[in-house]
Amino acid sequence: MNIQIFDSQEQLDETAAQYLIDTVKHNPEAVLGFATGSTPIGIYDKLVEKHHRLGVSFRHITSFNLDEYVGLTADHEQSYAFYMNKHLFSRIDLPAGQTNLPNGMADSLNSECKRYDQLLEEHPIDVQLLGLGHNGHIGFNEPAEGLIGGTHIVQLQEKTRDANARFFDSKDEVPTEAVTMGVGSILKAKTIILAVRGADKADIVREALFGPITTDCPASLLQTHSDVIVLLDREAGRKLDL
Ligand code: F6R
Repeated sequence: MNIQIFDSQEQLDETAAQYLIDTVKHNPEAVLGFATGSTPIGIYDKLVEKHHRLGVSFRHITSFNLDEYVGLTADHEQSYAFYMNKHLFSRIDLPAGQTNLPNGMADSLNSECKRYDQLLEEHPIDVQLLGLGHNGHIGFNEPAEGLIGGTHIVQLQEKTRDANARFFDSKDEVPTEAVTMGVGSILKAKTIILAVRGADKADIVREALFGPITTDCPASLLQTHSDVIVLLDREAGRKLDL
């Protein structure tokens, strides 16, 4: 793994954005995998800045998001569709028809999972951006006895709902289910960028990168991938012996 530790969030965001920009410059038709949550916001701001300042175009890329809550419409402020439009899609020249998120409002969620897997099959991801949950989740693949490879419906753990309650008026409003890409699909990405910030993630960062490979910590499966770039701020990396 290529582990890089930064003194400032600014540097981390800049580095992650530059990897994505280089990918698009090298291949204007690249397929990018995006994440949501608090970590990528600064990275998306940098992408927007580079789009305007350097004239980098996203016109021909295709994007896939990792996950979406079940039961939130795309215009709900806490849906990941809304988040992506707000932080990235509406600010760059990526045509709406080339962005993909699971539809958590689909009549048949099982058919929706199959549809998403089919699209992923047709558009292999070049670079997948990931954040890390406090319990080791990636996407919404929560710790479990077994993990599911493809897109599936997941019950969110209380720890995850607690962590995400900050975005809602109350915890009761946090959905209990989500649709997520599976770990198998995530690991198919040619390159994975894992970005993590904050002292509260230091233990899980160590466990994910250097602990046993176990479904109890889904991010530990990243150790089996040959091209993972880990971008950490000082606090998130403070428990690593490098
Ligand atoms: C969201 C996602 C999640 C988050 C993780 C960390 O699309 O995939 O796995 O990356 O929960 O969230 P933050 O960045 O808010 O700490």
